Amino acid sequence: MSAHPHWLAKPLAASLQQQFADDIEYQVANGCFVYDLEQLQQHLAKLQQQDVIKLWFAVKANPLSRIIQTLDQAGFNFDVASTGELSQVLAQGILPERVLNTGPAKSQRQIHAFIKQGVRVFVAESINQLKWINQAAAIEQVTPQVLLRVQLQWPEGEKNPLGGNALTPFGLSVAEWQHVQVSDFLAIDLCGLHIFQWGNMLSNEKMYQLWQQMVPPLCQLAESIGMQLRILDLGGGLGIDYLQQGQQLSWPKIIEDLAKIKSEAGVEELWLELGRYAVAECGYYLTPVVDRKTNYAQEQLVLAGGINHLLRPAITEQPFPVKLLRDSHASVKGFDVHGPLCTSLDKLGHLPLPDDIAVDDILVFGLCGAYGFTESMPFFLCHEIASEWVWQNDKLTPVRDAEPANWYLR
Ligand SMILES: Cc1ncc(COP(=O)(O)O)c(C=O)c1O
Repeated sequence: MSAHPHWLAKPLAASLQQQFADDIEYQVANGCFVYDLEQLQQHLAKLQQQDVIKLWFAVKANPLSRIIQTLDQAGFNFDVASTGELSQVLAQGILPERVLNTGPAKSQRQIHAFIKQGVRVFVAESINQLKWINQAAAIEQVTPQVLLRVQLQWPEGEKNPLGGNALTPFGLSVAEWQHVQVSDFLAIDLCGLHIFQWGNMLSNEKMYQLWQQMVPPLCQLAESIGMQLRILDLGGGLGIDYLQQGQQLSWPKIIEDLAKIKSEAGVEELWLELGRYAVAECGYYLTPVVDRKTNYAQEQLVLAGGINHLLRPAITEQPFPVKLLRDSHASVKGFDVHGPLCTSLDKLGHLPLPDDIAVDDILVFGLCGAYGFTESMPFFLCHEIASEWVWQNDKLTPVRDAEPANWYLR
């Protein structure tokens, strides 16, 4: 994947400038997201030029209707982790057979409801979930495919938001799954294993090493529980160079490595559920500068929107890359960039920006297509909900209006 080949396309930047200048009914003034759907289409087409892996989209990364529709057109299937995500996918006209349900919080009621709605692929994250899927399948007289989610530990494990080597509720250890016998679950097709506990991997070598280490314990587990291992799902975690350090994964190398993993594991199908690697690059978050000041010799900017719209920097300490929307040839210096909330957590980073930046200038954050709008804390301090726009056929179209606090306050 290229490192932001064209940041904002020029016509898109011009159109956004116009949008901010006109700003009818404060649709952008407090912060907005924009997704370049043509950039997304091109990227997804590249990801699909292979016949090694089946690709699913992890809807949690960006559940906006137009994003889901674009992934659908590119032939992706959909990994949903909640009732809300399922209904959003189905509302786009996607058949439930193309949906996979992951997540440690699947209740018995939810599993049954998903089966009734036609979902036929589940990742079981506990023995209870496995029993509930089997029971619901028997009642509804259907035979869903079920993968067991395995949580491994490595000697040189690391921590990351999905756990790395830390103990998490995502799946179960090999030792726990070994209590299961496939022949005890007659109503389902227990045909695969799922493993995913790393995040934002940026090195092909490291990624391949991790995948390789997993194959022997997974194959042994399958054998010991009487499973013919037909499907291996390696989740997501393919990284995005948020820090712009020139580190990025090579997609052709990933495919080459996964072809080897597929043959080592002897599986018929290898699956990935991509989140950020599919959609991060197509999205931008824009918000104006409300104030600029110098404080204890540090240049500070206060923005109209911060972690109320874009939480990720506060929980990962990784800022999104930023630029000014207008052109500037002024020299660049480091600014502390803060949002509007009354917490020091509301900081989008210490970021390089032109020295002539001023109140009402508009900042554009890149790589915001994943874990943006829905991974935020929009209610604190009663600020506005961000609007969301798409860019297609040289046209900027609103998909979600900005909403004032009285929209959600009671
Ligand atoms: C089960 C599962 N699959 C896939 C993903 C997508 O991960 P990423 O955005 O790193 O590709 C996630 C993210 O949390 C997940 O929980």
